Amino acid sequence: MSSIGIVGAGNIGAAFARALARNGLSATIANSRGPQTLSGLTAELAPHIRAGTIEQAAAADLVLIAVPWSKLPAALSGLPDWAGRIVIDANNPIEAPLFKPAELNGRLSSEIVAGLVPGARLVKAFNHLFANLVSGDPRAEGGSRVLFYSGDDVAAKAEVGALIARLGFAGIDLGPLAVGGSLTQFPGGPLPALNLVKFG
Ligand SMILES: NC(=O)c1ccc[n+]([C@@H]2O[C@H](COP(=O)([O-])OP(=O)(O)OC[C@H]3O[C@@H](n4cnc5c(N)ncnc54)[C@H](OP(=O)(O)O)[C@@H]3O)[C@@H](O)[C@H]2O)c1
Repeated sequence: MSSIGIVGAGNIGAAFARALARNGLSATIANSRGPQTLSGLTAELAPHIRAGTIEQAAAADLVLIAVPWSKLPAALSGLPDWAGRIVIDANNPIEAPLFKPAELNGRLSSEIVAGLVPGARLVKAFNHLFANLVSGDPRAEGGSRVLFYSGDDVAAKAEVGALIARLGFAGIDLGPLAVGGSLTQFPGGPLPALNLVKFG
């Protein structure tokens, strides 16, 4: 099993950590203020979730990034080349308190994130559900909650798809980033904030 890191320990980073821990998976999680500030979360999710530095979290085989849009460049600067490791882009180009969409100049938000993680194989996922639906039990209405993912690297996408399935979600591969990234982009795409269930 690949090692897992989480950069960003707020709503979505912590929700992903809870989903991992509930399924017996381990990860290293980091925020901007240092591991010592995450003792509450790591006590809740022991022994599966450990706090680390951003460098430690980002060194994992598979790294979920969940940081406010305007903070992404600072969070990801100065890290070594990603050397083919997998990045899950859970970010949306809009943030509290103003909720003003960021200027993307016609690009997909994941294309911009990809530029911040040179050498990574990027898969967009975990950006389109509210945090409580990421951390909560994905079994619902007699089926499984749908989680969309997309990306251009087929092998990376298969690995993320396997993780999504391991967490109990019904993963749906939307194809390359140009397709899936557009469908799940928030704001703008038609799929975010839907709570869908797949049967069978
Ligand atoms: N909230 C949702 O339901 C939801 C759903 C889907 C996607 N998203 C997306 O997920 C991303 C995170 O959202 P959120 O709601 O989880 O945000 P949040 O609750 O505000 O948490 C943000 C996290 O990012 C960390 N961070 C900020 N600057 C950093 C830096 N320079 N280096 C390392 N870590 C840094 C913060 O650490 P400190 O606390 O130490 O500053 C905090 O742990 C956003 O792009 C958002 O659009 C959110």
